[in-house]
Amino acid sequence: MDFAIKVGTSDKQRGACVVAGIFESRKMSETAKILDKATEGYIKNILASGDMEGKANTSLLLHNVPNTQFKRILLIGLGKEQEFKEKTFLSAIGSILNTLQKTAVTDVTLSLPDFPLKQKNSDWKVTQTAIAVSTSLYRFDQLKSKPDNDRSQLRKVVLCINDRAELPGCENALQQGLAIAKGMNLTKDLGNQAPNICTPTYLAKQAKDLAKTHKLKATVLEEKDMEKLGMGSLLAVARGSDQPAKLIVLEYQGLTKKDNPVVLVGKGVTFDTGGISLKPAAEMDEMKFDMSGAASVLGAMLATAELKLPINLIGIIPATENMPSGKATKPGDVVTSMSGQTIEILNTDAEGRLILCDALTYAERYNPKLVIDIATLTGACVIALGNFTTGLLSNDEQLAQELIAAGEQAVDKAWQLPLGDDYQELLKSNFADIANIGGRAAGTITAACFLSRFTKKYRWAHLDIAGTAWKSGKDKGSTGRPVPLLMQFLISQAK
Ligand code: BES
Ligand code: MN
Ligand code: ZN
Repeated sequence: MDFAIKVGTSDKQRGACVVAGIFESRKMSETAKILDKATEGYIKNILASGDMEGKANTSLLLHNVPNTQFKRILLIGLGKEQEFKEKTFLSAIGSILNTLQKTAVTDVTLSLPDFPLKQKNSDWKVTQTAIAVSTSLYRFDQLKSKPDNDRSQLRKVVLCINDRAELPGCENALQQGLAIAKGMNLTKDLGNQAPNICTPTYLAKQAKDLAKTHKLKATVLEEKDMEKLGMGSLLAVARGSDQPAKLIVLEYQGLTKKDNPVVLVGKGVTFDTGGISLKPAAEMDEMKFDMSGAASVLGAMLATAELKLPINLIGIIPATENMPSGKATKPGDVVTSMSGQTIEILNTDAEGRLILCDALTYAERYNPKLVIDIATLTGACVIALGNFTTGLLSNDEQLAQELIAAGEQAVDKAWQLPLGDDYQELLKSNFADIANIGGRAAGTITAACFLSRFTKKYRWAHLDIAGTAWKSGKDKGSTGRPVPLLMQFLISQAK
């Protein structure tokens, strides 16, 4: 896809289609007014006909309008002008793309000032448009014998701005949007990949390939390496699987060696059956998405390398299957983590925390500026926050606030839940230092409390993406979240 940013009104361009916004009730945007004038009231006539009233998520495609340099004009309803907000902007872009994908339109021109967002500048609109275009064109059809034949013919998007002074900022915002979109696409491809293909070995290969194309350093630890390091907790999860576990490390250097890195740790359970604490059959296929944290780390590493951000960034991915077998870990087993703390595994389905704790201990060797782990960790998080908001827990209030702000800006929201001694007590074990579950209540919090026992040496935040990493139902598939949040955070770190 080609993007261009032009200074001036959109009627000065030419092409297959220009977008003209219409507010309720039949109020014209600037572009609509200009086009209406040039076409001697053509648009006013259409509005008078009642075919377009300006309601949000409506559209009307006009052909052969006289006196324009465009083959088509797409009228797009923007709802009430006073109520126009970020969501309305994103759904307007979404319906423009939806409409045009069903046509032979090859290019589209739109004018950003038509969308009246007081809180957000043109940069934001540019980034969001680039991401929205990529999201709307994304398909995962590599496992179908023939590709889906709903491929859009859209090849070019032209975004017009009024003010030349905004141009450098918008160009930069475009690069960011494209990089984030590319990162999200990698995250989605990995999440959507079938679990017989996307194994820990496959993830390790993907990381090595990424390192080759993007000047990163990739290191893959094998089970014997993990044994030497004392990663008894991670290995306990891998025990039931025929697929060997991997600990994947990616390093990106955008500053001098001595600058402390940000470390991202992503849960990479390539399939979660629950193990001996076996999950019910319904929707178990969706547990192929249980490596979405890992996929988001790879996506963020890719986007960071594309943007050449001036930060040091490390990605650590503990990757394993969680399977039942004669060799599998049993409820009641006690294992020793790399930190030395012993863990009583009361439920083998609480495996995410068991692999993350050893990866979090491993992170200490990088002397991190801060550590963020990203994990599809608890069903309880879906109950608490639904599919809209990522759960956030942290041992550092400032870090938590920065992540919340990044999520707001990126339209990839996170909401903070508390950590605290009351919850920590729920992890008491009669037989080991700590139990791996805390009971039904506050499941997201007790999971994070477990992780917090392994993150005492650095500033740390945990993102529970169980509800946000993928969609179920007829649009089943990876969302690419929380790559936008992570990238917004990393971009702000780079400043
Ligand atoms: N991967 C799951 C969490 C999950 C479940 C994410 C459903 C999205 C949808 C995790 O490994 C898990 O099984 N967690 C258990 C923890 C429990 C045993 C304490 C859960 O949430 O039920
Ligand atoms: Mn599980
Ligand atoms: Zn899991």
